[in-house]
Amino acid sequence: MTTPGPDESETREALAAAAQWVATYLQESHRYPVLSTIRPGQIAQSLAQHPPEHGERLEKLLRDVDTLIMPGITHWNHPGFFAYFGITGSAPGVMGEFIAAALNVNAMLWRTSPAATELEQRTLRWVAQMMGLPDTFFGEILDTASSSTFCALAAAREAAGLDIRNRGMAGRSDLPPLAIYTSSEAHSSVDKAAIALGFGRDFTRRIEVDDAYRMRPDRLSQAIESDLAKGIRPIAVVATTGTTSTTSVDPVRAIADICQQHDLWLHVDAAYGGSAAIVPELRWVLEGCERADSLVTNPHKWMLTPIDCSLLYTRHPDALKRAFSLVADYLATDDGDVTNLMDYGLALGRRFRSLKLWFVIRAYGRSGIAHIIERHVALANELATQIDDTPGWERLAPTPLSTVCFRHVPPSLKDADAHNQAIVNKVNASGEVFVSSTKLRGSFAIRLAIGNASTRRQHVQRAWELLQKAAAETSSP
Ligand SMILES: Cc1ncc(COP(=O)(O)O)c(C=O)c1O
Repeated sequence: MTTPGPDESETREALAAAAQWVATYLQESHRYPVLSTIRPGQIAQSLAQHPPEHGERLEKLLRDVDTLIMPGITHWNHPGFFAYFGITGSAPGVMGEFIAAALNVNAMLWRTSPAATELEQRTLRWVAQMMGLPDTFFGEILDTASSSTFCALAAAREAAGLDIRNRGMAGRSDLPPLAIYTSSEAHSSVDKAAIALGFGRDFTRRIEVDDAYRMRPDRLSQAIESDLAKGIRPIAVVATTGTTSTTSVDPVRAIADICQQHDLWLHVDAAYGGSAAIVPELRWVLEGCERADSLVTNPHKWMLTPIDCSLLYTRHPDALKRAFSLVADYLATDDGDVTNLMDYGLALGRRFRSLKLWFVIRAYGRSGIAHIIERHVALANELATQIDDTPGWERLAPTPLSTVCFRHVPPSLKDADAHNQAIVNKVNASGEVFVSSTKLRGSFAIRLAIGNASTRRQHVQRAWELLQKAAAETSSP
């Protein structure tokens, strides 16, 4: 019997065809409806009920991507993608993924691929330099900001010296409730980490924000002091530079002062906003972050790197290691003074993610990345001004970076939320653009976020045109 699976000539042909497919897709993603139009269950219905008994040709698999999969794709690479945070599957990033998949290394130990560990450490230094972060930060790549924040808060818990690693948290009369602090605008990943780490949602204090949706340091101080008075032990503060709804930037310097005063771990969620610091004029977004104990930033958001790629930096790799390192006999090595990245997180197995990040940074250069981010910020500011200048429309938050929150409120409107939801639905049904929404101080807000490298002025202007048309056509309830 011959060896199952594709032979060399089929492999070469199919990989060449797949490369062509990718190159064409990256050029032509604007031809698809940005938001998939299929109904729930429609894709599942078109897929075979049972796995094939015998292998199929690779060329057929590629054809099936077009017929079976593409109809159910929402095109994050579309220039009209303005929902959530726009991202970019750039050619160098895709090339890095492709080669990393072929190498298929598991970078858990230094020896299981020295290049993967050493490239990861070097690319993280590069990103730190580009963002103006200190040289003393240790960095590692994880899958998502949610995982990074979880690991950072696990390190914070460990650094508090409560020996939770060994003794756990249950049934301990010596252990008071442990609290963490973040703003009312912080991402839900902070709550998830609190749930998983045993702080609990009730002890995840959501601190009030100011008019620009930034954490209020005075309220933070009050919350910490009130907890201390009740015998609750504050552990960490999570500040955000670039909140999810409005991209607001918390006053990290003032928050760092409070953390220092109370000896608390400061974690900064710069998942989206961190990339902006690559632009010299936007460096301010990370002001004060050199004092953070840990910081997460996601190149898979605004740095042209295909998902997933999240960078966790910390000044205390020892605390992170104490939280997670557990060397089983079958993983012990005698490699000496090397970094084994499995010691710094929950997962043992690690993908070779630094390759795509290295490719992206080398292919665009710092200035190329900065140029794209600057363009996005300028386009968002132009739109913000147009909204301000158009009667019947109002902006609901400042626009510090590339996300605009606004709504249509013509006179005599009774239900602004329903009206604006109808506008969003109508615009998204066009297939030309995809915007999302959020709630700000209880009101429905249309949220347009610019973040894809192929987005140009004409795409943003077309979105604005479609929004105004939809508003005119939507009868006000
Ligand atoms: C500020 C912020 N933090 C964290 C996250 C979570 O990111 P991830 O999907 O990488 O877990 C997001 C996602 O949009 C975010 O906006």
